[in-house]
Amino acid sequence: AVAGGGHHLSAGYPDPFTRDPTYRKVLATEFNSVSPENQMKWDFIHPEPGVYNFKPADQIVAFAERHGQEVRGHTLLWHSQLADWVTEGDYTDEELRAILKDHIQTVVGRYAGRIDQWDVANEIFADTWDDGGVRLRDGSTGATANIFIQRLGPGIIADAFRWAHEADPQAKLFLNDYAVEDIGAKSDAYYELAKELLAQNVPLHGFAFQAHLDLQYPFPETLDENMQRFEDLGLETAITELDVRFTLPEDGVPTAEQLAEQADTYQGVLEACLSVDDCNSFTIWGFNDKYSWVPSFSPGQGAATVMFEDYERKPAYWALHETL
Ligand code: XIL
Repeated sequence: AVAGGGHHLSAGYPDPFTRDPTYRKVLATEFNSVSPENQMKWDFIHPEPGVYNFKPADQIVAFAERHGQEVRGHTLLWHSQLADWVTEGDYTDEELRAILKDHIQTVVGRYAGRIDQWDVANEIFADTWDDGGVRLRDGSTGATANIFIQRLGPGIIADAFRWAHEADPQAKLFLNDYAVEDIGAKSDAYYELAKELLAQNVPLHGFAFQAHLDLQYPFPETLDENMQRFEDLGLETAITELDVRFTLPEDGVPTAEQLAEQADTYQGVLEACLSVDDCNSFTIWGFNDKYSWVPSFSPGQGAATVMFEDYERKPAYWALHETL
């Protein structure tokens, strides 16, 4: 099991990877896998038609190689952080299909042999508050549609995996989503999809749980059982974006009780991962509260990572170490 660190490089965010030497040092010494938090997303890496911006992603892959770390590629088929030229362009279905194929093969091909796991399809089911999250983002629900699924049909999911596999036959290819930790309607929908894809011989190798958890909800007690059923299909599993948020007290300082509960949650997820045979990667979504995406995404919540802003380790950090 490994732990990775995310990175930020979007406007309005600090970019600790290039700006914060302490961040780089911790990343280099305490982790054996890294995930680019934004740098391989479509709007970053392919901002204009025919224009690829590889430099930030290249730097992360080179950093990982220098430090003997693995890299998780994130992500290829996703409705969010998609470049405007794709969503707003006036393309025919045929052109849209060619655009996705070129994107996947160019990005995966660039790092072929150097990326261990790719999140090929990310969040392709609707949000849980919208129809229970059991329908694909095909535009039939209130959830933001994935333009490729909406326009080209669900078969594009299989194609995305096939194109990625052609471009890098060694990389392990994953489905990745949030709110799928427990056995339930949304993870059931994924389980059925995974079975269908495997029956069609699609190169699908794993199912990944983002695990953006929140202390206001109960711990996903069936996570281990859920992982096991996907592994029983012959898939690997992974924890890809673990963080544990909670509502901050008015003074902004987490209570000892909140930190203890957070530590139990981090530990519980790691234990689930260790309890099955093929949960081969365990990634936390950033490791310092200073750079966590949580406060800007859910105002009032935060302190979701394992370290305070000054790099002091939280109980969650020690809980992970105890468990490993
Ligand atoms: C988040 C990043 O952490 C932020 O920096 C960015 O502004 C938005 O995306 N699910 C995913 C990740 O798959 O890519 C998201 O990352 C968090 C939710």
